[in-house]
Amino acid sequence: MQNIILLGPPGAGKGTQAARLQAERGMVQLSTGDMLREARASGSPIGDKVKAIMDSGELVSDAIVTALIGERLDTCADCGAIFDGFPRTKAQAEALDLLLAERGRSLDHVIELAVDEEALVQRITGRFTCAKCGVGYHDSFRPTEVPGVCDVCGSTEFKRRPDDNEQTVRTRLEEYRAKTAPILPFYEAKGLVRRVDGMASVDDVAAQIDAILDEPA
Ligand code: AP5
Ligand code: MG
Repeated sequence: MQNIILLGPPGAGKGTQAARLQAERGMVQLSTGDMLREARASGSPIGDKVKAIMDSGELVSDAIVTALIGERLDTCADCGAIFDGFPRTKAQAEALDLLLAERGRSLDHVIELAVDEEALVQRITGRFTCAKCGVGYHDSFRPTEVPGVCDVCGSTEFKRRPDDNEQTVRTRLEEYRAKTAPILPFYEAKGLVRRVDGMASVDDVAAQIDAILDEPA
């Protein structure tokens, strides 16, 4: 199974594509954002520590997210891993190399979702998820078929992320530009980066990613 990174700014579609790959290909989505939100919801000491940082849109410490990824990798020894929102700094990229090497694994592709930043604020502020089954929607781009009812489980309760407001999104974009985009050259030097047009429709982006994953080795 292949190990891939989905790299792109907030709202680029990393979570949307990772969830689809998990459902369709049996790969495993490893989202540090989701892990941190779980930690917050459970009221664990890590959750309390990261709450204010996440709500401001800044990055949580490299040590915390690297430890979370390491633990998760140990629970899926031979899975195809989809790294979603990790790594986000050069230190995390180096730590991931080490974590994979220690387990006899390596990266196959770093898939960059190239997007127009202007569109991202609209994507993020319109995002919501089913409170029961977690499936993701968007007010304009992916509404529920019946208004107010989840297509998948029929629940009528939905939630929005506390960091999905315009001001926090701006900080998240700045963090991406300053700390995450600079890891692209690290992966380019290894010949791993593949760029897809993240402004295309969800299905079109999916087809672009599938084409990369289905290339003969
Ligand atoms: P995280 O949860 O990773 O958030 P993010 O990177 O800001 O990315 P998002 O989840 O907002 O966007 P996405 O790319 O997944 O887009 P989605 O598919 O949902 O991180 C949150 C916070 O946790 C960080 O700010 C930081 O504090 C902390 N953190 C996490 N990881 C960390 C790390 N490694 N190091 C340090 N700190 C860390 O799509 C968005 C919307 O657009 C959806 O509504 C979707 O339906 C829609 N959409 C998707 N694709 C398309 C398309 N092609 N066309 C139209 N609409 C689309
Ligand atoms: Mg996400």
